[in-house]
Amino acid sequence: MILKSFQLIDKKMPEINIKNLDNKRIEFTLPCETALLKLITAHVDLLHSCGGKGRCTTCKLKVWSGSENISEETHSEQNFKRLGALKADERLACQCVPLGSLEVSVPKSSQMPHLSYNF
Ligand code: FES
Repeated sequence: MILKSFQLIDKKMPEINIKNLDNKRIEFTLPCETALLKLITAHVDLLHSCGGKGRCTTCKLKVWSGSENISEETHSEQNFKRLGALKADERLACQCVPLGSLEVSVPKSSQMPHLSYNF
């Protein structure tokens, strides 16, 4: 993934609320971190079988709100959407950079067996 310069929405640091992990909130300290990198460093386990290269779709996140606060879809995400492997309301955590607040959930296909999800 090529990182472009990103502009924060509302000049506040991005924040992710994970609805199906008891509404866990994660605040970003750097404005250009991918969602996957931030979740991992915040000790939130998320599948990422290809190591964050945008090749596997195991790091899916369903976006409930704030889709306008995320970086543009990468070619990898566009390709997976074209192939039907990624739904319109899903993003790859390894490819997207949150630029403002958003609410997400981890779809069943990407859930870790040792974590308890609300849905
Ligand atoms: S970790 Fe494989 S696509 Fe994100």
